[in-house]
Amino acid sequence: MRRLAGKVAVVTGGARGIGLAVARAYAREGARVVVADLNAEGARAAAEDLGGGALGLVVDVADAGSVAAMIAAIVESCGRIDILMNNAGIGANTPFLETRLEDWNRILGVNLTGAFLVAQGCAREMVRVGEGGKIVNIASLSGQRGANGRAAYGSAKAGLELLTKVMAVELAEHGINVNNIAPGAIETDIARIMHDRATRAAYGRLIPMVRYGTPEEIADAAVFLCSDEARYVHGHTLNVDGGFREAGLMFKRDAPEA
Ligand SMILES: NC(=O)c1ccc[n+]([C@@H]2O[C@H](COP(=O)([O-])OP(=O)(O)OC[C@H]3O[C@@H](n4cnc5c(N)ncnc54)[C@H](O)[C@@H]3O)[C@@H](O)[C@H]2O)c1
Repeated sequence: MRRLAGKVAVVTGGARGIGLAVARAYAREGARVVVADLNAEGARAAAEDLGGGALGLVVDVADAGSVAAMIAAIVESCGRIDILMNNAGIGANTPFLETRLEDWNRILGVNLTGAFLVAQGCAREMVRVGEGGKIVNIASLSGQRGANGRAAYGSAKAGLELLTKVMAVELAEHGINVNNIAPGAIETDIARIMHDRATRAAYGRLIPMVRYGTPEEIADAAVFLCSDEARYVHGHTLNVDGGFREAGLMFKRDAPEA
């Protein structure tokens, strides 16, 4: 039995990386997927590749008019929205003292305001149809822990975690489940921008599983949160991070004394 059969699932930032892996997993589970991305050609190619009536749309999640047009196009083509994977995001690795206001505004604009605009638009559609829904926001471990270069990015993701809790409280009465996935270090294009050699070496010491995660490992968690099996999971942040968040003292028994 395919777990998302008959559902209409919107994946923002679905042209590549984590979003593309989630789009593939949702399609595999029977959903009709809408890939919405700033990269119009990437969205179109991803939708064509997915098949099953998938739709590719261009959207700038940071632009309210663009989000409204995306929602209207989805409703016109699919009639409803059952699932939102609120994934589109941009990264930066900029020290606090060098973070310019324009960079701060750009990152908050996409990663927090953009997520808000898309979630609100999709939730309003779910409420209109009246049959509930599932929303999964993509936060980050950078929103939970202080880390080099993450002033704007981490602040946006921390805000998104809190927004998820408020949405969970307010949307429960409409049968809409809202949760977060917080990925740790996942091997994608954004990681190639944000993770220099020093960052990669640090992760090598700090992740108990001693490796980066894959987009497919985030997609598996996303399918679970959108399935009926997760119906009582609500307002939760699911860290998918190889143990990075929970790790403390780590050493090898036979390590030489300092
Ligand atoms: N890769 C990681 O290590 C990691 C860790 C934690 C959280 N995340 C989060 O996961 C999400 C996906 O990241 P990824 O690693 O797949 O990144 P990615 O750069 O590979 O993909 C991001 C996608 O979002 C799209 N996008 C960017 N700005 C957009 C906008 N304004 N409107 C619509 N689409 C836009 C891009 O075109 C791209 O297709 C992001 O929210 C990111 O912050 C990633």
